[in-house]
Amino acid sequence: MKKSKLRFLIAYGPTQEPLDAVRFLTNRSTGVMGRCLIAAAKKRKQDVIAVECPTDARTALDLKAKLEKLVVKADVLIMAAAVADVRPKHVASGKIKKDRLTTIKLVKNPDILASLAKKKKNKIFVGFGIESENLKQNGLKKLRSKKLDLIVIQEVREGNLPFGERSVQALILTPEGDSYRFASASKQELADYIVQQSIARASLC
Ligand code: CTP
Repeated sequence: MKKSKLRFLIAYGPTQEPLDAVRFLTNRSTGVMGRCLIAAAKKRKQDVIAVECPTDARTALDLKAKLEKLVVKADVLIMAAAVADVRPKHVASGKIKKDRLTTIKLVKNPDILASLAKKKKNKIFVGFGIESENLKQNGLKKLRSKKLDLIVIQEVREGNLPFGERSVQALILTPEGDSYRFASASKQELADYIVQQSIARASLC
């Protein structure tokens, strides 16, 4: 891909899965990594389309629909969104009384990255993952199943969660089996490396 400027599509932040008019399921993602990625791409004078969850796309299904439209215009997709793996099967339009809240039926959300992989031709896809053990083995499995060009595995150990403004331990893996370890990096350092690697890989497409 011999373009002087690439278009980065960056999705980030937590999805929200409503249960009723006042409750939802979500996760602890803060969106910091996504904001660092946007800054890194802009610093390198790349075009950026940012999709922030839950503001621009509330649920996993909203995000899937939005990215399906936007990905056709993108050269690089960085999927830093913390997508809820499940959603309540039924969403009540009013408020559910507490006596009916002890059992909630959940259904799986689609794997957005894996489904977008079908439209991937000549694009670079970067995904994220969180692992506590067998980082390389689990990371490579995820990278291959989602047909990624790069995966960033953040390591989670007891009392060490990768949320918010803090340094992280990360392992970056490629389909060729190369790996690069960040023992303790700021999210901005990590984001700069991811953007730089994405640009380098795009030039080989
Ligand atoms: N992702 C996605 N669609 C989902 C869930 C996750 O596209 N329904 C994306 C995330 O944005 C991230 C990567 O896939 O880039 C994370 O993959 P996932 O398999 O969900 O990783 P973990 O949450 O670490 O999975 P597991 O609990 O199986 O380890």
